Amino acid sequence: MADKGEGVYMPHDHIRENSHVSSIEQYHKMYKESVENPEAFWGKIAENFYWKSQCTGKFWEYNYDVRQGEIFIKWMAGATTNVCYNCLDHNIEKGLGDSVAFYWEGNYPGDASQITYNELLKEVCKCANVLINKGVKKGDRVAIYMPMIVELVVAMLACARIGAVHSIVFGGFSADSLAGRILDSKSSVLITADGVYRGEKMLNLKDISDTAIQECQDAGFTVTSCIVVRHLGEKREPGAGGDVEHHPPKRPCIKLQTKWHNDRDCWWHDLMADASDQFEPVWLDAEDPLFMLYTSGSTGKPKGVLHTQAGYMLYAATTTKYVFDYKPGEIYWCTADIGWITGHSYITYGPMLNGATSVIFEGMPLWPDAGRMWEIVDKYKVSKFYTAPTAIRTLMKFGEDYVKKHSRKSLKVLGTVGEPINPEAWLWYYNVIGDKRCSIVDTYWQTETGGHVLTPLPGATPAKPGSATLPFFGQVPAVVNENGEELDGPCEGYLVLKQPWPGQMRTVYGDHQRFERTYFQKFPGYYLTGDGCIRDKDGYYWITGRTDDTMNVSGHLLSTAEIESALIEHSAVAEAAVVSYPHSIKGECVYCFVTLKEGKLFNDALVGELKGKVRQKIGPIAVPEYIQNAPGLPKTRSGKIMRRVLRKIARNQQDLGDISTMADSSVVEVLFQNRPKNV
Ligand code: PRX
Repeated sequence: MADKGEGVYMPHDHIRENSHVSSIEQYHKMYKESVENPEAFWGKIAENFYWKSQCTGKFWEYNYDVRQGEIFIKWMAGATTNVCYNCLDHNIEKGLGDSVAFYWEGNYPGDASQITYNELLKEVCKCANVLINKGVKKGDRVAIYMPMIVELVVAMLACARIGAVHSIVFGGFSADSLAGRILDSKSSVLITADGVYRGEKMLNLKDISDTAIQECQDAGFTVTSCIVVRHLGEKREPGAGGDVEHHPPKRPCIKLQTKWHNDRDCWWHDLMADASDQFEPVWLDAEDPLFMLYTSGSTGKPKGVLHTQAGYMLYAATTTKYVFDYKPGEIYWCTADIGWITGHSYITYGPMLNGATSVIFEGMPLWPDAGRMWEIVDKYKVSKFYTAPTAIRTLMKFGEDYVKKHSRKSLKVLGTVGEPINPEAWLWYYNVIGDKRCSIVDTYWQTETGGHVLTPLPGATPAKPGSATLPFFGQVPAVVNENGEELDGPCEGYLVLKQPWPGQMRTVYGDHQRFERTYFQKFPGYYLTGDGCIRDKDGYYWITGRTDDTMNVSGHLLSTAEIESALIEHSAVAEAAVVSYPHSIKGECVYCFVTLKEGKLFNDALVGELKGKVRQKIGPIAVPEYIQNAPGLPKTRSGKIMRRVLRKIARNQQDLGDISTMADSSVVEVLFQNRPKNV
């Protein structure tokens, strides 16, 4: 993308010439068809996939208006297919059986493996048989709490093959969070691993799983099977010998801390050894569920976002193809964890549906040093690379030397996702990582949307640093004001989507009313993203951040209410209010105000305990950066906490705006005085 001045970066010729969409005119033409005639557009794409039987009714159908009755979205209802079959068997039939599906790169440099499409199919069939033997049937939920290893993909695809609904919980969540998700989804089978190293830090996943299973038991729900991948192996005394041959020399061993429950716990490798490598897929309706994935909401309880078969398949595949301009033979790498939606859509499903060869990385960007990512790029000749702004900002801090040590000349498209990217980080990504010859794609989307919503296409869209640019095919964004009126031209307001697209979530698992309330109530007739945005004179969209009580820390969406309820569980806390605060690496961080009970003392020990409470209830990602003593909180006369005012106090901005509705304005001065010294 050559600089056209005014911060507009045009696609470079070498990228444009070979790309699927090679001009902005071609984008506009395809876009027009996608929104004016979705059936023709997606119908043509559907021809590339395998359908056991064709769609019998309407190709798409929906109600977006709560005033007209229940909200529903359906694509290709009546058609039957299997997403796992399309990821594996269908590609193998096309001759891709011996291609590498995944290069696995372990935490320890030198600990690596690879698996072809043929090999992966066998593993998936074995795992499907294992699950069936454990009593899992179509529609049952299976919880997965695993590190970034190939067995995680095997487990997901095995669920998809038998029609079970996988519910993956990010390996960084605490036992309490895992238990909450198992209980909500009623998953009686849990797949995990003994443990994993991330950098030099070990996470004992089996121990955490045991605690979570016990919590479920205490709440009256039994996890009947816990299948454990032996990833780190058993620690043995020197010279003791034994069954450790499977163990790569570089990977440290651990000893499980918790008891092995013979009636419930089983080793993955034992079950897989006895299982057949043949399994006929279960043919599923287009609208049967494929997976659920929890995301933070405005209220404390995470929402189980439910995605279905056909629509998600079409959307994950199509966005991967166009947004990364993926072509057969290229090496693709998304650094996200599969425990988040980015990993679902852009490590497993989207790339595999394109027959891609991808990298799965278990480790982290800074270990053993800040050059690890570029070392991996060179090792596998990665051309399409996808990461988060927070990772880019972290690496920026370490300087260019770690980057320049590696050639990176295979790179062509550099993607970002998860939070707004500041222009400074965008430019560093473009100039330093991409050597001014790659396309940057800033992709805006959500767990709920299943795939990209606003994004440039690498060979077509002139980019502006900090803008997610234009809608992807099938997306009809609009900007509305507080009264729900659509704004024209350049404007700022709430970002809504006017028309369904195939990859859209269908419901909140077990709570359809919450789905309607959260996304369709505020502005009837529109899907509410919950993000604010600016549309500029060129029709480009610039996301300004969340407009509800969630915040985005290092690209992870957190609920203020969930953190508050963790804090309130501490015996010293009477009341808590949480707001976001700007952070140079994480984008935003967690800032808490706590009101203590009579006679309780605010000191460093208490701050440590409160942080520990959040870590225990949610996980390390939610641990507050700042906790401040708040003898009183600013509230309206009806008792509602005025977070708007708290955000200003956190930022030390004295101009509080209209505070006429505040019950007792004297609390404000005390709060300004009590701001933590380290802010
Ligand atoms: O606020 C937006 C932000 O992340 C939210 C979605 O979070 P989650 O469901 O966890 O999914 C993250 C990965 C898709 C959005 O509502 N967000 C995501 N991507 C961007 C972004 N904000 C600005 N620019 C982006 N590219």
